[in-house]
Amino acid sequence: MSALALDIGTYTIKAISGKPGKKIEVERAVEVFNPLGISVPSDEALIQKLVELIESVITDHKFPRNDVRLSLPETVVSTNIIELPSLSEAELASAIGWQAEQHIPIPPEQLSLQYQVLHRPHKDSSADEKMRVLLVGAHKDLIEKYVDVFLSLGIEPKLLETQILSVIRSLDIEVNEPPTLVIQMGASSTQMAMVYEGELRFVTSQMTGGQALTQALEKQINLETKQAEEYKRTYGLDPQQFEGKVRATLTPVIDILIGEVRKAMTFFANQHPGVSTQRILLSGGPTLLPGLVQYITQEIGAEVLVAAPLSQAIGEVPEGNHPTWTVCAGLLMREEF
Ligand SMILES: Nc1ncnc2c1ncn2[C@@H]1O[C@H](COP(=O)(O)OP(=O)(O)OP(=O)(O)O)[C@@H](O)[C@H]1O
Ligand SMILES: [Mg+2]
Repeated sequence: MSALALDIGTYTIKAISGKPGKKIEVERAVEVFNPLGISVPSDEALIQKLVELIESVITDHKFPRNDVRLSLPETVVSTNIIELPSLSEAELASAIGWQAEQHIPIPPEQLSLQYQVLHRPHKDSSADEKMRVLLVGAHKDLIEKYVDVFLSLGIEPKLLETQILSVIRSLDIEVNEPPTLVIQMGASSTQMAMVYEGELRFVTSQMTGGQALTQALEKQINLETKQAEEYKRTYGLDPQQFEGKVRATLTPVIDILIGEVRKAMTFFANQHPGVSTQRILLSGGPTLLPGLVQYITQEIGAEVLVAAPLSQAIGEVPEGNHPTWTVCAGLLMREEF
């Protein structure tokens, strides 16, 4: 049966329908501008507008409504990876609430919590080897409001997961691949996730993204938003274009991101002495900026690759197999709930 993966971004809404599984069979992929500029509504008026917007996307493209999968932006969740002595499932279930209180800054009565064991020590391993557990917390009322948007359209979402997990699944990073820093950029936020030995090690989140680049061009070169967007996409970091002015305006904004990348790499190196980040994988619309891959490669000195999340997919795969589709691809690749 067909499923629908929806990635409601602050810039565009991405939707892919198709047969889910490790090898997705794409039926339809659509990207539409999000005039609301928000992905999670905060008040009644916005809820109503988002309901109308999603309804039109689904009806216009005849998307299925039975298996709808959603991603939650990292900006509204708190993601932590904690270490614990090895516990059984039952022991973990009773300890997790208290652990969440220690690590997630949301009062228990308002907390909607999901957790997942990332690493469980082998039976024969030493007693001090710890288990690692992923905690994802969000405000209950926010999740309820978000789900209500879909319920009011007669849709009961089958899956709601934080988007960085979808992104990582779509990249299909194997256990023996080198330590990889995944950078998921959107219009208004950016997440970094370290994946080592096929396992998520930490996630960080910043409130900046592609929009900050456009705004820098608007202010400093005095351009209208539409024009700034065009200059960004066409000239990017090319020093030969527009007397290098576009590049000169964009690089200080990108350097802030580079600073965060360095911090993440140092944090990882401190956690794992002797191991270093060897690869950066870029995901999300802003990573299509001309010259970005070369710039990061030169600044960081690691291998930099752009995600191609639908390379295993068959069917109506969108042209270009862009890194904008990672969230939808990951949602459709999930096999167990
Ligand atoms: N070819 C391109 N070159 C440079 N920037 C691009 C290009 N294509 C898209 N972008 C930028 O990518 C951003 C949109 O990316 P994306 O669709 O991943 O964001 P979003 O999911 O809507 O945002 P968020 O996840 O932050 O809510 C916009 O800022 C847009 O200007
Ligand atoms: Mg996004």
